[in-house]
Amino acid sequence: MLVTGNDILIPARAGHYGVGSFNTNNMEITQAIIHTAERLRSPVMVQMSEGAIKYGGQDLANIVIDLAKRATVPVALHLDHGSSYESALKAIKMGFTSVMIDASHYGFEDNVKETRRVVEAAHAMGISVESELGRLGGIEEHIVVDEKDAFLTDPEEAVQFIEQTGTDYLAIAIGTSHGAFKGKGRPYIDHARIEKIASLTSIPLVAHGSSGVPQEIVERFRKAGGEIGDAAGIADEDLQRATQFGIAKVNVDTDLRLASTVGIREALSANPKEFDPRKIFGPARDVMSQVIEHKMRVLGSVGKA
Ligand code: G3H
Ligand code: 13P
Ligand code: ZN
Repeated sequence: MLVTGNDILIPARAGHYGVGSFNTNNMEITQAIIHTAERLRSPVMVQMSEGAIKYGGQDLANIVIDLAKRATVPVALHLDHGSSYESALKAIKMGFTSVMIDASHYGFEDNVKETRRVVEAAHAMGISVESELGRLGGIEEHIVVDEKDAFLTDPEEAVQFIEQTGTDYLAIAIGTSHGAFKGKGRPYIDHARIEKIASLTSIPLVAHGSSGVPQEIVERFRKAGGEIGDAAGIADEDLQRATQFGIAKVNVDTDLRLASTVGIREALSANPKEFDPRKIFGPARDVMSQVIEHKMRVLGSVGKA
């Protein structure tokens, strides 16, 4: 069933588990996400960035909405990193049931103002809203506390922000970053900060940049001819701990990008004569499903729907 973000995330925060919010850009990715969620009885969020909307538009949104409506588990369609009020409103008109307004690059007051506008409009239409406070970006564990404080989310500010905006869930900066290169070795994630913010707030918290960049997938990517440097993601145990503290929405894009490319590369190199798209994108869908299953098990959302 197609539901709002709140329908999925409020129980997740209360139950101390995480729900994957996976980026989609095409039919196969969407099928992998929603069919795996059904198989594992897991709630799930499917998100489209503004880039995905530019690429797939209403056609892609309709694929997600149709699969979501026919699914027997809760599914929300979410706008990832909406850059403006107009962008959020456009997504709501397209049928999204959850939107993010990302005004985190503004100062605190302007972030509040822009977020508040979106919250008022979205709530009038029964749609839930994610916003962001703090600056996303990988940091090294050894940097001094003052430097971390300069861009990771301040717990007291988070309380003010939630009060002043009425946001339904909040993305916090905890040291994670987007992409396949989140830091050397075991990338840093500030558990103490998550715990502190969670102790002062009750709404679901969101972690961006939560791909695990599984080394097995990275190895297969290389073996099938792909080139990738020192790729590293958030360790499973680190993500699991984060969800136990209050992270309810867990954003994952990179892992599915890698998994689909592994499937495509392996299919093409195993059979250079192949040109049936179903024999190329089908394996990509299968590898994505395995990665999604692993993530849902780590987050603890399996069996929650
Ligand atoms: O946070 C960014 C997501 O990975 C989406 O990326 O804007 O290239 O679609 P994109
Ligand atoms: P990853 O790059 O770690 O997959 O993060 C995706 C994300 O945060 C989308 O908003
Ligand atoms: Zn993000």
